[in-house]
Amino acid sequence: GHGASHVFLIMGASGDLAKKKIYPTLWWLFRDGLLPPKTYFIGYARSKLSMPALQKNCLPYMKVKEGEEDKVKAFFKLNDYVAGSYDKTEDFMRLNKAIEEKGSCNRLFYLALPPSVFETVTLNLKAVCMSKGDKWTRIVVEKPFGRDLASSNRLSNHLAALFKEEELYRIDHYLGKEMVQNLMVLRFGNRIFSPIWNRDNIASVVISFKEPFGTQGRGGYFDEFGILRDVMQNHLLQILTLVAMEKPPSTHAEDIRNEKVKVLKSIHSPNMEDVVLGQYVGDPNGSGDAKDGYLDDPTVPKGSVTPTFATVALHVQNERWDGVPFILRCGKALNERKAEVRVQFRDVAGDIFPGGEVKRNELVIRVQPSEAIYMKMMAKTPGMSINAEESELDLTYGSRYKDVKMPDAYERLILDVFMGSQIHFVRSDELYEAWRIFTPLLHHIEKEKPKPIPYVYGSRGPPESDEFFKKFNFTYSGTY
Ligand code: BG6
Repeated sequence: GHGASHVFLIMGASGDLAKKKIYPTLWWLFRDGLLPPKTYFIGYARSKLSMPALQKNCLPYMKVKEGEEDKVKAFFKLNDYVAGSYDKTEDFMRLNKAIEEKGSCNRLFYLALPPSVFETVTLNLKAVCMSKGDKWTRIVVEKPFGRDLASSNRLSNHLAALFKEEELYRIDHYLGKEMVQNLMVLRFGNRIFSPIWNRDNIASVVISFKEPFGTQGRGGYFDEFGILRDVMQNHLLQILTLVAMEKPPSTHAEDIRNEKVKVLKSIHSPNMEDVVLGQYVGDPNGSGDAKDGYLDDPTVPKGSVTPTFATVALHVQNERWDGVPFILRCGKALNERKAEVRVQFRDVAGDIFPGGEVKRNELVIRVQPSEAIYMKMMAKTPGMSINAEESELDLTYGSRYKDVKMPDAYERLILDVFMGSQIHFVRSDELYEAWRIFTPLLHHIEKEKPKPIPYVYGSRGPPESDEFFKKFNFTYSGTY
């Protein structure tokens, strides 16, 4: 045998996710010496691929730099590929044999698979591919975790019958982002925030995700899910829980996730008054992709009313947050790429400055691009003037931490799986609550088919969304 310590299995190795995300991530971790020594990799999929062919598929996404050629070779030397079906036990026995040939080791299965084969694969893994003795097995799964509460529960029950919760790693890659992980430190490591982090001082919280491109050929997948399932129910809601949760007793995964679940339990399902839905149309003056609207994508069904943009106000009905809207906004084909959190504070009481210049304080946590934390605040206009003007206390990572290479979200998360840390993974009860919140709205939309408001590719989204922000106590200041 090879005396392997760990074998990392990529189930669905010939697919898109594997070549674009998983193999490149494993390569970066290997290159930077972050993986445990004697880690091997085995890809598994239906296609009769050779290792050189698989390598060729992945290389364009691996960002190999000059001088790293030998290292890449060394990486691929640790890789094997096994072709097999997703439903025949004999094939999984062959896979198991390939793992056993590496020696007695811990096993990590990354399921980069279409939902349709998910159940048969997990059944077979459980039946023939689990590690033995004192070695562990961990299973990494990706969304979609169902499409509503009932289907997600079915999937959860299926998995719970096969694996222990400690063996399951549900990925929400937003939990692997630097600034999302920073929320806990910001909130619980600073004396100044805890006394003001509540309904007495905070007017509204905005969590937004903007993307400057459309479906890019993923229209078929996207249309079945829509922006609410694709981004809001998972990524934005996860950020909300970290902004709103109480301080956990420790930084242990269970303590943190217990608090996140409590927040989710305090959120009622939104109704249509709390929602703006949009769908992009082509910009006749735009260039390239921008000319095409969502319905022009040939993989999108004709006349689809699937939203590509949504603003939803959620209300956390607990003592800390009662009355403070949490406005979640996400959209495709908008004017910029941006993900950020804005905590807007209440007006200063009894403003004494002439001209009504005093604006609300706002704490902005920019997740991407270029990570930053800044506090919008009032300061005297420098020089002879006695006026107050808006300025910022600014912690922009690019200028403050010049030499730090920010790891990609997937790098951190995959490393966490090796380490056995579930802090940044979604627990089954979090998933349950997330679907509980959004399912009534999703079902309503599916049944009533409200027509989304058209917005032009490359715009800010429907103007109705900006009006909505005002209604929910967010004062426009600058761009957001
Ligand atoms: C994914 C969504 O979960 O997140 C995509 O399915 C979206 O539609 C992506 O583009 C955004 O991730 P990131 O890390 O580029 O912001």
